[in-house]
Amino acid sequence: MTRLLALLVVSAGAIKRSPRGGERRNRIAVVGSANLDTTLAVGARLPTRGETVSTRGDPLVCCGGKGANQAVACARLVDDTLEIAFYGRVGSDTAGEVLVKELQRANVDISGVRRVAGGSGQGFVLLEDGGTVLSVVNKGANHGWDLQSCDDAWAAEVVQNARVVLLQREVPERINEVVARAAQKAGAIVVQDCGGEEREMSDEHLARCTYVAPNVSELARLTGRDLDRKDASDADVDAACHVLIARGATKVLATLGSRGCRLVSKDGVVVGDACTSIKAVDETAAGDAFRAAFAVALAEGLDERTALRHAAAAGAAAVTKEGAQPSLPSREERDALLPSLPDVPRGGGKRKWWSLRGGDACPWKFASRLNSMKDRRDLAEGFSDDPLGWVRRQGTIDGLDLVDFNFPEHLGDLNVEDVRAALDEASLKCGAVCLRYPASKFRRGSLTHPDESVRREAIKLTIDACVWAQALGASEVVVWSAWDGYDYSLQCDYDQLWSRLVAGFQQVCDAAPDVKVSLEFKPTDENTRFFAVPSTGSALVLCQDVDRENFGLTIDIGHCLAAGENPAQSIAQVASRGKLFGVQLNDGYQRIGAEDGLVFGSVHPTMAREFVYWLRRNHFDGHIYFDTFPRSEDPVRECELNIRTVKRYYGDAAALEADGLQGNLDAHDAMSVLELMERHGMM
Ligand SMILES: Nc1ncnc2c1ncn2[C@@H]1O[C@H](COP(=O)(O)OP(=O)(O)OP(=O)(O)O)[C@@H](O)[C@H]1O
Ligand SMILES: *[C@@H]1O[C@H](CO)[C@@H](O)[C@H](O)[C@H]1NC(C)=O
Repeated sequence: MTRLLALLVVSAGAIKRSPRGGERRNRIAVVGSANLDTTLAVGARLPTRGETVSTRGDPLVCCGGKGANQAVACARLVDDTLEIAFYGRVGSDTAGEVLVKELQRANVDISGVRRVAGGSGQGFVLLEDGGTVLSVVNKGANHGWDLQSCDDAWAAEVVQNARVVLLQREVPERINEVVARAAQKAGAIVVQDCGGEEREMSDEHLARCTYVAPNVSELARLTGRDLDRKDASDADVDAACHVLIARGATKVLATLGSRGCRLVSKDGVVVGDACTSIKAVDETAAGDAFRAAFAVALAEGLDERTALRHAAAAGAAAVTKEGAQPSLPSREERDALLPSLPDVPRGGGKRKWWSLRGGDACPWKFASRLNSMKDRRDLAEGFSDDPLGWVRRQGTIDGLDLVDFNFPEHLGDLNVEDVRAALDEASLKCGAVCLRYPASKFRRGSLTHPDESVRREAIKLTIDACVWAQALGASEVVVWSAWDGYDYSLQCDYDQLWSRLVAGFQQVCDAAPDVKVSLEFKPTDENTRFFAVPSTGSALVLCQDVDRENFGLTIDIGHCLAAGENPAQSIAQVASRGKLFGVQLNDGYQRIGAEDGLVFGSVHPTMAREFVYWLRRNHFDGHIYFDTFPRSEDPVRECELNIRTVKRYYGDAAALEADGLQGNLDAHDAMSVLELMERHGMM
């Protein structure tokens, strides 16, 4: 019945010439090429250079060209609620006549086809058994567009009432550009097939397309990446798609032949399976059937995932038959293959947007400042305002793994069982115990105090911290001393300060050989304008002098900034000596002489990215601690943002690495690396 109706509509083709009025979007507009294709089946093997082979059977002459193929594919797939219009150029030869007739016969509106002087486009295809092809194209009339008259007004008419506009790359780029611009203005979906001529695609045009739809070779060509290898991984494909997204593309629909497809956007990846239950005969037009079916499904108002299934079924159906247009499936043929596909394509949707950039692979565990939980008590209903209440509040932070306790400040009044129970309840573990020598006793120094008895107490307290760490299952004690320094010139004997520090740390390390003891240097503090260890360099000298396996360093970004250092360079120097035990992340403006403790990456995003790059590059195996001071902000939300930021920067580091960062580092090439980041949307 539908078929009969369709035929009746064909004979009324002439009536359709007038532009349609009204607001009803009931069209798919296909703008592109039409070719008369000659396919020669050559049997077991394509000829090599200089070789002649015989055909098996007569040449198959049929209509092709990506534009015409997609128009005919759409026409076969739609029911009578949608109209398919083709806009193209054919020659004044017999081939031109055949092409127009065939389009008409397929029930395609051809009012937008013009016949121009000269020959029509022609394709010559050599087909090997199993479906592999070699082809040559004579562009002919497909390059006979009169660019002057194909202006914005013309394009507006082309896209009028269209739900979807299909474009390929076998006609002049100007045509695609002007049509995509009009489509965007009219709110139509644009699917840009990337098959056809090799040429640049402008960022503006990429941004105007709703879907940029390359196959792997085209994706490789457009992004300059090496994807043609059979072993190009999904991650390689996704990364290449992201290059186009960084240039402005919204969604990239990459087809991978019998491997299916990947729909990549900032929101995630939707993975579409190919239909594997078919026997491949000729892959010609698989992509045309695929993209046309995708367009038809979208035009029918179906969601993307369903559209991907329809596309895969239509693509597979095309592979089961020889030729271009003869192999394009009907709606029934498409539907027959649907049951062999999974109900819903995988992935996307709920995946968080950063995970796509490789942040999922971030191997680090996270801890955050427990004292932050003292603030914004208005948001802490149900959590007691004491260390174990703060632990429970930290238990609500998405992505947090560990708690670092200050000692004796947080743990002094507690017993191990209660702390363990609170950690269990919050599904957290202890990451480290951080020494805070109490002011009451150590204001004039802890490990460097002038009195030997006080120094001994400081050592004992540090060893107690090691015992706590072991009891709570943490392997690390982080030492920051507010008091081991000075405020005035000629106040201290620097040699004495140093040798006391060295001796103190040696005693602690020897007493707790299974615990890592890590010094967190800070160049300056309101309590001591100069700390005894004022820089990364100085801290490394201390490591040498302490000379213990279990002595190392914790690098705090705010402290590096206060010392006028680049934190990433400190990471490189400390990590290369095997002394990077921990890191404390934050950011700041460095205007008030104090630590700002702002969200990681909020002030110096590029420095922060470089910091993460160096951690990743050195396979940092400690944990990440956020040493931030959210005073007015929700500390739970603030911590979650910190965690996401590290994960995202981890993915960014991987993306830069994959995109040749090392070459820029080798060449000290600032402009190239800045442009590299620009391309990845990191500038
Ligand atoms: N051998 C196959 N078996 C099953 N499905 C296939 C096969 N080849 C292609 N397809 C389907 O068609 C879709 C598009 O195929 P492909 O990636 O080859 O596009 P293309 O290279 O643009 O096509 P064309 O060969 O027309 O240029 C695939 O995602 C898949 O769903
Ligand atoms: C991608 O499409 C182009 C143009 O249609 C074709 O020449 C090429 O062989 C295809 N690549 C793959 C891997 O299918």
